[in-house]
Amino acid sequence: MVGARAIDVGYFNVKHTHGRSGGADGMLQVASFPSVAPVLKSGTARKAEDEQQPQGCVVPVNGVSYFVGPGAPQRGSGLESRIVAEDYAASDKYLALLRGALWRIADGANAGTELVVRRLALGLPLTTYFEANELLAQRAAGEHLIGPEGNQRRVVVEKVRVVVQPQGAIINFGFLNGGKPLQGLTMVIDPGGGTLDWYLSEGTVPYWERSGAYPKAMLACAYAVADRINPRWRNQAAIIDRIDQAIREQKPSFAVQGEHYPMAEYRRAVDQILDEAIDQMLTMVGSVDDVDQILFTGGGAGVLSSHLYKRLPKVKKISRIDADPVFSNVRGFHVVAEHDLAASKSW
Ligand SMILES: Nc1ncnc2c1ncn2[C@@H]1O[C@H](COP(=O)(O)OP(=O)(O)OP(=O)(O)O)[C@@H](O)[C@H]1O
Ligand SMILES: [Mg+2]
Repeated sequence: MVGARAIDVGYFNVKHTHGRSGGADGMLQVASFPSVAPVLKSGTARKAEDEQQPQGCVVPVNGVSYFVGPGAPQRGSGLESRIVAEDYAASDKYLALLRGALWRIADGANAGTELVVRRLALGLPLTTYFEANELLAQRAAGEHLIGPEGNQRRVVVEKVRVVVQPQGAIINFGFLNGGKPLQGLTMVIDPGGGTLDWYLSEGTVPYWERSGAYPKAMLACAYAVADRINPRWRNQAAIIDRIDQAIREQKPSFAVQGEHYPMAEYRRAVDQILDEAIDQMLTMVGSVDDVDQILFTGGGAGVLSSHLYKRLPKVKKISRIDADPVFSNVRGFHVVAEHDLAASKSW
């Protein structure tokens, strides 16, 4: 049995926690794998059964076998895309990714064929939170049979809490800050793979009307580059990863099959997507003059913050970028799960 755990099933990466090393105040251990879940044909599922699989596991969902884990992009047909669909959290792929994370959590806890997770915290973007959070909590709670037929593990999740994604970053910041919450009006900007989320709050009070999400972020930037060269690359996760890395690390070029593509030619396409997302955000937020601080989180934090500073130079001095932005939300979710667990024990 394990106590608190958290999973952040993003459009780009799935992030999850393994608990704290060295007791309650120890470092929170985290890990991630790509949000890619190729469907295995029955033959491949059988073959996978016989092999040692450090790079992933077979996950059955509604009679279909998926392969999920760090090695998933290599397991597929080479045609696995990360589709940014609004009903993501209700999809079978999402459940396959969530179960893949539960499998890795069980590995991390050295569990045998059974594991009970007492509290699991998950997140949803603001665009889908209100319509999807109850359904997601229902799907995630209870029993999950994971692994190839005949060699399955049973993971039981006792209770689930669903958090608005950017709240994770705020909670994580407060936690790292010795429990001191941020003062004044805080705006979290979370450019992920699929969505740009922004969230304004004062203390623990959210400003819902000014918060929101837009379904274009880092993947849309990479797709815009791919579309100008070969639109079929959208379905090739490995090539999209290469373009994404070139954007994130501001590389001069990226290579596919020995051919080098200079990024300078595609910068405008990327900038257009960033501008479009920022425009949506600023329209909904209204003026940022009353914002006391901006916290950038999510894997696109570096790219989006530099673009925003070009447009609004004055916000730079009130901005900070999370040290490990890919994992800040999941770390915050984990703190929520720990609190829920502690509260349940004090009854
Ligand atoms: N090791 C890494 N270090 C820094 N950035 C990374 C790393 N791996 C991936 N990224 C970046 O993270 C971005 C994805 O961010 P993130 O993981 O926050 O998205 P997500 O949470 O999966 O998506 P969403 O929030 O839209 O569902 C990618 O564009 C990629 O460039
Ligand atoms: Mg995210």
